[in-house]
Amino acid sequence: MDGLEALRARYLGEIGAAADEAALEAVRLAALGRKGEISLRMRKLGGMDPEARKVAGPALNGLRDEVEAALRARRAALADAVLEARLQAEWLDVTLPARPRPGGSIHPVSQVMEELTAIFADMGFAVAEGPQVETDWHNFDALNIPPEHPARQEHDTFFLHRLEGDNRPPHVLRTHTSPVQIRAMLAQGAPLRVIAPGRVYRMDMDQTHTPMFHQVEGLAIDRDISMAQLKWVLEEFCRAFFEVEGVELRFRASHFPFTEPSAEVDIRCSWAGGQLKIGEGDDWLEILGSGMVHPHVLRSGGVDPAQWQGFAFGMGIDRIAMLKYGIPDLRAFFESDLRWLRHYGFAALEVPTLPGGLSR
Ligand code: PHE
Repeated sequence: MDGLEALRARYLGEIGAAADEAALEAVRLAALGRKGEISLRMRKLGGMDPEARKVAGPALNGLRDEVEAALRARRAALADAVLEARLQAEWLDVTLPARPRPGGSIHPVSQVMEELTAIFADMGFAVAEGPQVETDWHNFDALNIPPEHPARQEHDTFFLHRLEGDNRPPHVLRTHTSPVQIRAMLAQGAPLRVIAPGRVYRMDMDQTHTPMFHQVEGLAIDRDISMAQLKWVLEEFCRAFFEVEGVELRFRASHFPFTEPSAEVDIRCSWAGGQLKIGEGDDWLEILGSGMVHPHVLRSGGVDPAQWQGFAFGMGIDRIAMLKYGIPDLRAFFESDLRWLRHYGFAALEVPTLPGGLSR
């Protein structure tokens, strides 16, 4: 049959040159559509004499197959090119941070509260809370500090002003977290194991004192609690908190109205070169007061001292934050200086856990 070779060359050429789906479809219709050139020729086969048809039939079939295959291949190539172009255009560096670094940071005091809560939770202590505006009774009387007791003067208390005729009980800004001992005992009874982190207030201001600061109270009450357990808990806490193997504590006999016997605890540290280091050196820094809960205090909390004993401690959170993170001046904690916060602050989304590492 005439001209097949020319047809073949033209269509294969046009298919190769088709730049998109639409152009390719136009070529297909021109060749193989109902009125397409190849289709029309095939339709004419019927009118041929048998000899000529024997030659022309297979040749046309072969051409049709070849054009169809070329169309399929070109269609696939066009689809690949479209995908490739899209991938290039929508390219994304997945190693870039998904969001800009959050602007805020966690204050060292909050960080340390999270850390110590994780450590004491691991030892079975739950968190208890109490109000910062506290009754005089919870802050003093219930803790075995009667009105004429000298300890009241030592606490440099902020008293709340009362209007004449106001006969509600007198209130103070709590001078320590110890009133939470009373509240926890009254609310939960014995046995009991709680810590109470929070703000406390005293009228005092110099390089190591601010009128507001933070303490964490600890209280464990059970049938046979001993001073040895108190010591173990505090040593265990300090090792975990400071993340230093060689933490060394010194227990000094002391006096608190609400514990008997009482001990103050110092931690060994060094100030060499103005750098504060824990667990080495010849300096000692007082970090907490502690002791066995006084029977009067148990009674104030509705707990029978004939059946239950307990230990308690109160620790300065700001102090241990300064020690752990080498922060020299306490006053800076409360100045809200953004430069200070950026320097000493912690990433907002990293919650300290024991297995995850406290301060990483
Ligand atoms: N409340 C005491 C203080 O503020 C600390 C303390 C708590 C001491 C519990 C003994 C037991 O100094």
